[in-house]
Amino acid sequence: MKTVIVTDVNSLARAAADIFVAQAQEALQANRRFTVALSGGSTPRSLYQLLADIPLAWENIHIFWGDERCVPPDHADSNYRMTAESLLSRIRIPTENIHRIAGELPPDEAALRYENELRQFFGDAPRFDLILLGLGDDGHTVSLFPDSPALHERTRWVVAVPHATPPPPLAPRVTLTPVAINAARQIVFLVSGAGKAERLAEVLQPRPAAQPLPAQLIQPVNGDLLWLVDKPAATLLSTDKAG
Ligand code: 6PG
Repeated sequence: MKTVIVTDVNSLARAAADIFVAQAQEALQANRRFTVALSGGSTPRSLYQLLADIPLAWENIHIFWGDERCVPPDHADSNYRMTAESLLSRIRIPTENIHRIAGELPPDEAALRYENELRQFFGDAPRFDLILLGLGDDGHTVSLFPDSPALHERTRWVVAVPHATPPPPLAPRVTLTPVAINAARQIVFLVSGAGKAERLAEVLQPRPAAQPLPAQLIQPVNGDLLWLVDKPAATLLSTDKAG
């Protein structure tokens, strides 16, 4: 695991864009489709806006999501809508390369459909080239919330989870499970802002608590984990964390 500290949210977006481009070029040069699972929330929006202006071989890039709120794709809380506004509407990418989670469906049906699509696409293991993740104030990531049964899921790659208590939005979710995320080649957490400092320091403690936070369950089995954080979020990190 590696932690890189950058100045602010704009340099976070630029550093993340550099990683995205490098990973995409590596996959494409190896004649592999580049597969990326995008994060929802607000932090990655500026990254997606940057990527929209970078010439990439989008015809060989497949976009997935780490999670989705169970709302229609044009709903203000839809992760897909945020991505469509900041990226998808501004690039030429084949429709079949966009693997949207059908948030408009009943949660269990949406989860099953997404899992089937992943299994049809990846086969034995969901080996995403890159998964982008955020960190919630309660230590959640994607829609893996503290004390959720989804944290202990060992076989399914996608589950539906109820979500009726904060953090908002209070909508059922469809989320990748830890076992699906940990199969990735490269996992990058994007964490910005002073509001995340305390939780980030807790998550990056050398020894997770007896009851690990969801974000502490993200440990790639055969891949790399990078925490890309800005200085306001890193204020409580020990100096040995940098670099
Ligand atoms: C979601 C995300 C969620 C998000 C964190 C951080 O659907 O909301 O998957 O895990 O990444 O809550 O959100 P911010 O980037 O808005 O702080």
